[in-house]
Amino acid sequence: MTNIIDGKIVAENVVETVKRFTAELTGNHGVQPGLAVVIVGEDPASQVYVSSKSKKAKECGFLSVQHTLPADTSEADLLKLIGELNADKTIHGILVQLPLPGHIDSGKIIQAIAPEKDVDGFSFINVGKLGTGEVDSAFVPCTPAGSMLLIERVRGKDLSGLNAVVVGRSNIVGKPMANLLLAANCTVTIAHSRTKDLPALARTADILVAAVGRPEMIKGDWVKPGATVIDVGINRIPAPEKGEGKSRLVGDVDFAGASQAAGAITPVPGGVGPMTIAMLMANTLVSASRSAGVEPPAF
Ligand SMILES: NC(=O)c1ccc[n+]([C@@H]2O[C@H](COP(=O)([O-])OP(=O)(O)OC[C@H]3O[C@@H](n4cnc5c(N)ncnc54)[C@H](OP(=O)(O)O)[C@@H]3O)[C@@H](O)[C@H]2O)c1
Repeated sequence: MTNIIDGKIVAENVVETVKRFTAELTGNHGVQPGLAVVIVGEDPASQVYVSSKSKKAKECGFLSVQHTLPADTSEADLLKLIGELNADKTIHGILVQLPLPGHIDSGKIIQAIAPEKDVDGFSFINVGKLGTGEVDSAFVPCTPAGSMLLIERVRGKDLSGLNAVVVGRSNIVGKPMANLLLAANCTVTIAHSRTKDLPALARTADILVAAVGRPEMIKGDWVKPGATVIDVGINRIPAPEKGEGKSRLVGDVDFAGASQAAGAITPVPGGVGPMTIAMLMANTLVSASRSAGVEPPAF
């Protein structure tokens, strides 16, 4: 029987820990974690993400601040706001919702965030820490950090001797995921659009992570029997069976086929998705704990 990994439950556990430690940090040390979320423009999907992050932050007992700026905000004004948030002692995490409008250099904005408040883990300092194995002091990007927690629930923390294949090499998911697996002693291969014979490579994986953005690309017969399959992909496809103009979400893995072979697999939705926001809360709590000189909880 395949173990279907319930990301909602694991995410709830993370959020419960965050709430408990937040109450302690606020009550005993007088430090309330503060998360500032910045959004520029009116992209509807981004608005939804931002409001759910702000809502979850409030639910955790954080100070939750949202800056909604017009689409024509200049790069200089956005940099000024980042500078103010960097200096604000009540703010421990700064998140700039991507994508930014075309006239703003996203890289410049991300690198302007103070590394100790970079709870998305995109600054060069945090990327470098993760890349050099300084995982404990780095902020790790939330989606791979959450995926790693799901893998640990199935396989434990030490993944020595296991082969991992990560399909996708983005800076947000694929590369940090590969670094996390390497730090946990996996033998890691990163695959991408130029990889030859991906099905054969995927079949070598004890842990297979799909972060591609192509609906159901990874087929059941690409999965090694007993493998742990983590599907990061979120793809909306037409679902005429639900009615005209309706759609549904699927991952990058053909769930029905892959779950025949996999030992454990994440569904979409309900797998990696809920972990991302939970890990954002965890990173913000860790940042606030560090600023108070208090040992943060382990997740
Ligand atoms: N669950 C969450 O919270 C969450 C968070 C972030 C992202 N996502 C989802 O995860 C997926 C990946 O996101 P991303 O930001 O990493 O995407 P991305 O930046 O577009 O990267 C996609 C990667 O997939 C590779 N790729 C594309 N076609 C391929 C093929 N035919 N065979 C092998 N590799 C191929 C690309 O290779 P090249 O580098 O060679 O082009 C690239 O490295 C998306 O569905 C996204 O919506 C989910």
